[in-house]
Amino acid sequence: MAISEGKFQDVLSEFAATPEFIREVATDFQKDLQIGLRDPKSSSMRMLKSYVGLPTGKETGEYLALDFGGTNVRVFRVRLDGEGRYEIIKRVGEPLIIPGEYDYIGKNSTADQMFGFLAKLIDDAIDGDHTTKFYLGHTFSFPSAQEDLNNARLIIWTKEFATPGVEGKVVNDLLLDALKKRGIENVVPVAVINDTVAVLLSAAYKQADIYTGSIYATGHNTCYLESSIHDPKGFGVGGMILNLECGNFMKLTPNRFDVELDQKSEKPGEQRFEKMVSGRYMGELFSMAVTELLSSDKKFDFTSIDMSAIVSDESANLEKATAIITEKTGQNLELADLKKVKELDAAIIIRSARLVTASYVGIVWQRANGGEIVKQHVAVDGSVYEKMPLVQENINKALQELLGENASKVTTILDVGGSGLGAAIAAAMAVVK
Ligand code: BGC
Repeated sequence: MAISEGKFQDVLSEFAATPEFIREVATDFQKDLQIGLRDPKSSSMRMLKSYVGLPTGKETGEYLALDFGGTNVRVFRVRLDGEGRYEIIKRVGEPLIIPGEYDYIGKNSTADQMFGFLAKLIDDAIDGDHTTKFYLGHTFSFPSAQEDLNNARLIIWTKEFATPGVEGKVVNDLLLDALKKRGIENVVPVAVINDTVAVLLSAAYKQADIYTGSIYATGHNTCYLESSIHDPKGFGVGGMILNLECGNFMKLTPNRFDVELDQKSEKPGEQRFEKMVSGRYMGELFSMAVTELLSSDKKFDFTSIDMSAIVSDESANLEKATAIITEKTGQNLELADLKKVKELDAAIIIRSARLVTASYVGIVWQRANGGEIVKQHVAVDGSVYEKMPLVQENINKALQELLGENASKVTTILDVGGSGLGAAIAAAMAVVK
């Protein structure tokens, strides 16, 4: 059965991100930021204070860094040598879920198991040394309310995490309990930060002109340095970094696939922007759209990795793409239809890149505050930004469209591994006076 052109255009148009649409998103994003600066409760973004500004670059010493926020947990021992220099002395990491073996993020897991697992990894990272004192920076990549740099209370799980008994708790308290149970009393948590904040700290440690940090991966979120906020309990220079939790930005119109995906998700109504752009959800949107396109009764299960492979197939007869599409749909499509599926795939990725760019531009406009836009880099980490075809070129294109002659002043840069390094820097900022 061939896909009719009418049906194809109908589905494809749902994912259009026209120049007008992304300009509107950038403007509304800036407005929501302004609303949030006056009163965070009135913004769709949480705009969480991090109690940390930028590093000076003089941070030195050896620290432990715990990076917790995706399906893999990592612990590093990092030596900071100042001025952007550092060395990773030891790294350990394991997934929080191995299907069929264990699962610390599902509904049937417990907080004890989850934090016990983190404590075990920390024990591995310190080679069982229960004597030497280690200061630990913790990158905890979920919306958390803070009143200082070292205490963060999980507001709500995102990215389909569902472990009971953690929401509403101070995460470093749970970690300290778990460490104690393993007989580890020499590891002292001194800072907890979001992964976006970690990326910003890590990039700013190495390079000037960076005020924005972002994660574009399984999840999506951005933070920026707000120079008007200073707090006696904060560390670092230049103001305070605000973790926007813009995955929750809602002031944009979702399409019908977005609406359906949200309704079927673990937390309906939450993280609407993230569900439109991030790696965790793009595969689902694509699956839903292809299911409709092929009028299938069975829902397909493409992942964002499949999307990446399909869209990068440049061969004339789409050999690689065909193999994936046939495997996932159980249908042998004609070449013309395979091309339609590939075009739809590209449209979902391009929409994601353009919406994310609109949010970056909203921040750039807000920081410029009606004045001149300064030369700057937006530091980004994450597999979608790093590896997904079409993403970086479409970010550049959208920056050009939205910023016009100022576009050359704003570039995105990749900061790989910022989540770990940033945690070590935050620990150093907390202990080095
Ligand atoms: C979380 C953020 C995090 C982002 C990227 C989102 O789901 O709410 O706190 O920064 O994922 O990991």
